[in-house]
Amino acid sequence: MLSDIEKVLVSEDELREINARLGKQITEDFKDKKLLVLGILKGCVFFMTDLVRNINLPLSIDFMAVSSYGSGTESTGRVKIIKDIDIDLSGYDVLIVEDILDSGRTLKYVSDILKTRGAISIKIATLLDKPERRVAPITPDYVGCDVPDEFVVGYGLDYNQEYRNLPYIGQLKRSVYE
Ligand code: IMP
Ligand code: MG
Repeated sequence: MLSDIEKVLVSEDELREINARLGKQITEDFKDKKLLVLGILKGCVFFMTDLVRNINLPLSIDFMAVSSYGSGTESTGRVKIIKDIDIDLSGYDVLIVEDILDSGRTLKYVSDILKTRGAISIKIATLLDKPERRVAPITPDYVGCDVPDEFVVGYGLDYNQEYRNLPYIGQLKRSVYE
């Protein structure tokens, strides 16, 4: 384990189980729908690529990149679109894929925009959830697991663009960011 990591919160085995469970559930829920899986870059990439390979349905993928001007570990709710979607949403049932839901401000902003783009429905899958931190009225439809109110990295999640390639979710030592 990397020395900057306090402890492993979600192991590789647990991530595999989460992807299998959510993929199965999504496969059932989106039968007969025109599914577009929409990843929020960059944190979504590892989760999304594993998740879609557990969804046994025809589907399309697209990505959006947003920045939520934060100081190191907090988002502010002032969100900027860095990369918009390429696909016209009309006719699609959209599944937003996010790495972690914290205050909910980023997803509130993104889902409000997508609602004006003609999608039939918009659902949210998040790998991790910190429910006690919620400020914006956002409830995810699919959750991998809850995590405590600690800064976590790995499997796509970063601190200052580092640690994304860790194969597990780890709690970052406070000494790294305090
Ligand atoms: P929200 O707008 O407060 O819900 O922030 C969500 C975004 O903040 C996520 O998509 C992450 O990019 C980032 N974030 C929130 N908590 C963490 C964390 O513990 N580790 C890494 N990134 C986080
Ligand atoms: Mg993110």
